[in-house]
Amino acid sequence: MRTVAMVTQKGGSGKSTLSACLAVAAQEAGERVFLIDMDPQKSLTKWCHRRADKNLPVESVSAGKLPDALAALEKSKVTLVIIDTPATETPASDAAMKAADLCLIPARPTIFDIWASEATRGKLKTMGKEFAFLLNQCPAMQESQRVTDGAAALESMGGLLRPLIASRVAYQEAAREGRGTTEIDPDGKAAEETRMLWASLKRRLAKVKSGDKVGKRAA
Ligand SMILES: Nc1ncnc2c1ncn2[C@@H]1O[C@H](COP(=O)(O)OP(=O)(O)O)[C@@H](O)[C@H]1O
Ligand SMILES: [Mg+2]
Repeated sequence: MRTVAMVTQKGGSGKSTLSACLAVAAQEAGERVFLIDMDPQKSLTKWCHRRADKNLPVESVSAGKLPDALAALEKSKVTLVIIDTPATETPASDAAMKAADLCLIPARPTIFDIWASEATRGKLKTMGKEFAFLLNQCPAMQESQRVTDGAAALESMGGLLRPLIASRVAYQEAAREGRGTTEIDPDGKAAEETRMLWASLKRRLAKVKSGDKVGKRAA
C-alpha cells in the first residue's frame, strides 16, 4: 500500500480536485483506492457521496486517529490511499505529511502559490519527507512565461510531476458530478492529462518505495 498526501498551505490550488481525479484514474488503472478527507470543508467527502461508489470509499479521519486508520488499511486489500488536507497548517496536515510515503504540493502558476509551496517544501524537508510539486490550472491555450517560470521554480525546489495540469472546465464538471475527468469525457484532454499524471505519480511512488530518495536528492 502506498500513501499520498495532498498538502500545501494555499487554498484553491486543487488539492481536492486532483485527489478526486487521480483517485478515479488510479482505480481505472487497477488500484484499490481509499480516500481520507482531513479537511473540515469536506469537499472530497461530498464528492464521494455524490458518486456513491462503494469501491471508492472516503473516510473522515482526525489527526490523532490517522496512524491507526492507515495501519488498518494496510491489512486490507487497499493499494493506494490519497489523503486530502486543509489549506492551513493544522495538526491534520502535519499528521498527513508525517504518514505519507509521498507528499504532493499542488500550485497554480502564480507567485503567491509558488511562495506558499516554498513554505510547505521547507516544512517537508525539515521532516525528511519525500515530495513532488504539481502545477495546476495552467492556461490551456499557450505556455506563457508565467507557466514556464513557475515550472522552473518548482523544478528547482525538488521536482515537478508532469504533465502540467491545465485549467479546464472538465475538472469542475467532473467534481460537480461526483466523477473523474477520465469518466466524463474519456477521450478529452483533461482525461489524457489525468491518466498521464497518474502514470507519473505511480513511477514516483515506485522509486520512493524502493528507497531511491528522488525528492530529497533533487532538493
Ligand atoms: N485544473 C483545473 N481546471 C479548472 N478548475 C480547477 C482545476 N483545479 C481546480 N479547479 C477549481 O479551482 C477551485 C479550487 O480547487 P480545489 O480542488 O477546491 O482546491 P483546494 O482543495 O486546494 O482548496 C475549485 O473551484 C476547482 O473546481
Ligand atoms: Mg480542498
